[in-house]
Amino acid sequence: MKDMALDHVLSIKDLTVFRGAAKILDRVTLALGQGETLALVGESGAGKSTIATAIMRLLENARVTGSATLAGEGDLFTLSERKMVKLRGRRLSMIFQDAGTALNPSYTVGRQLGTTLQRIHGLSKAEAWKQAIELFTSVGINDPEGRMTAFPHQLSGGMQQRVMVAIALAGSPDLLLADEPTSALDVTIQAQIVRLILQLTRERGASCVFVLHDLALASQACDRIVVLYAGQVVESGPARDVLERHRHPYTRQLKSCVLEIGAKDLVAPEGTVPSHDQMPIGCRFCTRCPRAVARCADQAPPLVPARQTATGPLDHHIACWNPE
Ligand SMILES: Nc1ncnc2c1ncn2[C@@H]1O[C@H](COP(=O)(O)OP(=O)(O)OP(=O)(O)O)[C@@H](O)[C@H]1O
Ligand code: SF4
Ligand SMILES: [Mg+2]
Repeated sequence: MKDMALDHVLSIKDLTVFRGAAKILDRVTLALGQGETLALVGESGAGKSTIATAIMRLLENARVTGSATLAGEGDLFTLSERKMVKLRGRRLSMIFQDAGTALNPSYTVGRQLGTTLQRIHGLSKAEAWKQAIELFTSVGINDPEGRMTAFPHQLSGGMQQRVMVAIALAGSPDLLLADEPTSALDVTIQAQIVRLILQLTRERGASCVFVLHDLALASQACDRIVVLYAGQVVESGPARDVLERHRHPYTRQLKSCVLEIGAKDLVAPEGTVPSHDQMPIGCRFCTRCPRAVARCADQAPPLVPARQTATGPLDHHIACWNPE
């Protein structure tokens, strides 16, 4: 992949995360342009949340290598913690998968949003209160004034997620990392929250890395898709190419699961992801792949352009020795 750090808001190169001896992420490379939305797709445990948390530099008990370049700031992994504190909430912001644990149970949601607004914009308490109500309105919280004095446990899971969205948007970040709400919320509410986040980021011209389980939504709503398997990128590119002209056997399996079952949610393909202490040294998908050839078990395939055209390689990449 050419070095795109200069013309991208975010460029991640060879991001590798170890937890003890386990390689949770392995040489993850991706890039995101101004105003683009990128979907991270893959089964549970693929490493989607780990990527988002690593970008925020909030991973605990993990060793991180590689780089994550944010336009105008340089490599986030080498910045001081003081600088990161300044960037979080202002230039990059994250909406966590589980709002229940991300919100502080001891403070009202109005106070949590208000103090964020005061810290980021230097507003007075009264100004922050007024702006908090406006933000609660924009994320679809009904009776926003009344909700300001509610504690998180007094709100439904969907409302808690909306509060999280408001807090994440308080500093008008130009990069939003949104981890899809878990199944703790029912599917309709999840879809509403996902659509709300996409709409608000688009309106603000921000870029968004979105963890999504819904492949159909990823293709409709996102510009780019990155398919992850066991901590590795197996296919990435413009959403339409990945969905309609995919070449990796795992992408096909993900897609056919959705189509066969007619479900919107991602249903895992047959078999299970190997545990980290039994990860194949070659292609991590080889234990489940119908197209495996001899070299797959002991040689890891590199991420390479999926197609060549008369004008050169396309911005669509796969890691596979025997692609479709
Ligand atoms: N705090 C932790 N300590 C040890 N291992 C962890 C920790 N957090 C995650 N992992 C491991 O890292 C891998 C990736 O986890 P991650 O949470 O990033 O997956 P995910 O793709 O977000 O999954 P899901 O769709 O279930 O949210 C998994 O194997 C998981 O068991
Ligand atoms: S490298 Fe081999 S095992 Fe891995 S996806 Fe491609 S064909 Fe299947
Ligand atoms: Mg996750």
